[in-house]
Amino acid sequence: MKSFKVFLLVGLLIGAMGIMSMAATFSIYDWWTAGGEAQAIATVLNMYHQAYPDVTIVQNPVAGGAGVNMQAVIKSLIFAGVPPTTFQVHAGWEMYQYASANLLQPITNLWQSEGWTNVFPQRIQQICSYNGQFYAVPMDVHRANMIWYNKAIFDKLGLTMPTTIQDFINMLPKIKAAGYTPIALGDSANWTTAMLFEETLLAVAGPDKYNQYFEGKITASDPAVQQTIQYFKTELQYVNPNHASLTWDQACGLLVSGQAVMTIMGDWANGYFMAAGWKPNVDYGGVAVPGTEGIYNLVVDSFPIPVGAPDVQTGYDWLKLIASVPAQAAFNQIKGSIPARIDVPTTGFNPIQVANMEALKKDVLTASAVHGSEAPVAFVTDWENALTVIQYHPDMSLQACVNLLNMTAQQDNLAGTVASANVNY
Ligand code: BGC
Repeated sequence: MKSFKVFLLVGLLIGAMGIMSMAATFSIYDWWTAGGEAQAIATVLNMYHQAYPDVTIVQNPVAGGAGVNMQAVIKSLIFAGVPPTTFQVHAGWEMYQYASANLLQPITNLWQSEGWTNVFPQRIQQICSYNGQFYAVPMDVHRANMIWYNKAIFDKLGLTMPTTIQDFINMLPKIKAAGYTPIALGDSANWTTAMLFEETLLAVAGPDKYNQYFEGKITASDPAVQQTIQYFKTELQYVNPNHASLTWDQACGLLVSGQAVMTIMGDWANGYFMAAGWKPNVDYGGVAVPGTEGIYNLVVDSFPIPVGAPDVQTGYDWLKLIASVPAQAAFNQIKGSIPARIDVPTTGFNPIQVANMEALKKDVLTASAVHGSEAPVAFVTDWENALTVIQYHPDMSLQACVNLLNMTAQQDNLAGTVASANVNY
């Protein structure tokens, strides 16, 4: 009996040593491959490596801005029963689609034990949770309603950034006449075109109507949406002719090379310009899209732990790291965004980021539909495609555009889906 116990003990010890020496793997999917964003994620992965040197990190970056390609890859992996440890997902509806199908692990206990409910703004907590449980941890806060401009060309042409969308529209022919592309666009994936519409809608309709539109409470027949369609069609006349072959960052590159003057893009563009060696408020400016001052259109990158995630502890360690002050500072300083935590010092952030950190405290908060937060994913996909139809049929009448957008909302039952979802607005 005694020798059996010794045998058992030795066996257990060997087993335990075996487990200890088996290196854990942390597998992560993201779509941060462009200038700025690639360096930002590399920096945090390096912090993770420093903290957990024995963990093997398998990073799987899938190119395609806004996650257009990565999201399809993740769905295939999850359906095949081989999810990674974690993956990049926009907080809000993009995350809800997984949570509502019970594909993510609730992490409410972690949120509570780590005290995160005290350091992340209420609105961000809402979009990181579904049906009363937390499912994701925010890495950043991006602002969708930003316009970026080449300062040297602005000075040369004697321009200042208008404060209304109408004045912005009026300025476009003047820039074109001077021989520049007024608005750089890279819509090899159509989310960038949809951003033009989304941010213009925010400017024309204001935050309440903007929300109502994406909740299906008003339709495209509303005068504000009709006006947006008209501005959108005008804006598209002032973009670079090769827009369909460029990505969002290549479009930003047109500002750097001096071919284009402005671009409407989230503040990942800030990270791109910094990585390209441009100095904020010297070489380029970045402010709220004309007519949207005082509104912060949120884009929040977050990380969940899928059900069945391998080496799940490595995932919890990742979540704890990315929620920490040092990681939120290091990542966002490079990324162009601002921390999701409210207690990160402004030191080390560029002046555009510092202005946004101030704005976040007082602005009206809305959330981007294009970037997965504000509206159901199926609707957004169809709506973006409808906008592409409008883009490539400039002769479509206003009424035909309205009908097309309304049909999209109806066929996807936008109003019903939003009303019946277990989400907290
Ligand atoms: C993400 C950003 C990213 C951008 C371009 C957005 O959807 O939220 O983090 O930089 O896409 O890829």
